[in-house]
Amino acid sequence: MRVIEAAAEMRAYIKEEKKAGRRIGLVPTMGYLHDGHRSLIEKAASQNDTVIVSVFVNPTQFGAGEDLETYPRDLERDKETAEAGGAKVIFHPPVGEMYPKGYKTYVNVEEITGILCGKSRPTHFRGVTTVVSKLFNIVSPDRAYFGLKDAQQLAVICRMVEDMNFDIEIVPCPIVRESDGLAMSSRNTYLSVEERRQALSLGRGLAAARKLYEGGEKSIEKLTGIIRNEIDAMPMSEIDYIEAVEFPSLEPVVSAGRGTLIALAVKFGNTRLIDNIILD
Ligand code: PAF
Repeated sequence: MRVIEAAAEMRAYIKEEKKAGRRIGLVPTMGYLHDGHRSLIEKAASQNDTVIVSVFVNPTQFGAGEDLETYPRDLERDKETAEAGGAKVIFHPPVGEMYPKGYKTYVNVEEITGILCGKSRPTHFRGVTTVVSKLFNIVSPDRAYFGLKDAQQLAVICRMVEDMNFDIEIVPCPIVRESDGLAMSSRNTYLSVEERRQALSLGRGLAAARKLYEGGEKSIEKLTGIIRNEIDAMPMSEIDYIEAVEFPSLEPVVSAGRGTLIALAVKFGNTRLIDNIILD
């Protein structure tokens, strides 16, 4: 597995790949890869000739007091996972390569970044869209792969790609869950045994809301209410939000229907987890 750290070397590699007529798939990650990432890499490998996985813990998407310093890192394991999934190269730039001294430019998608997660993490999506734009410019992929667990992130990136005329196909990939229903996340590793047990209420609540909807319930209040009850029953939970919006526009909804995103963020101790369902 080749690891490239410099943007110029990455560009040179991509130039050769493109010259050889190869289609490039990019899987942007912050590393500590799990089976959710692996599914993105495998999907990318099935649709492209060359898959690049970026592993970069992006400081600009972390707010003050968040877990930038403690975010889990394990490049050796990431290399194995990426290779097993079918990737050829890991792009692993140092922070100074992405944000050199004097750096001043940010990409910001308006309005839809101030709702849901954006309310409690006001600078988060600006960091995401900035780093993803930079990765798009360095790697020039034909396709880029993002998980639906971060449904707001996916919607924001699709908006940015459209608005900024990036000639890149964004491929959404389904949420991958542990066998007990917990959505996979690199941050799950922070959870104590008891926090993890209580965090299963997220998947249970969302599954109950889906069942209620499939039984004919369209009221947002009732659908989010059943999730809230399930999570509130867990003493270690602290709900940030449980909300329904239209996906992918993230416009408000009055009643649930096809394409309604019910998204939530909940803290267990210091660990903030997100999860969602999209109704069909
Ligand atoms: O979803 C993530 O892991 C990150 O937000 C991303 C897209 C890699 C940007 O740093």
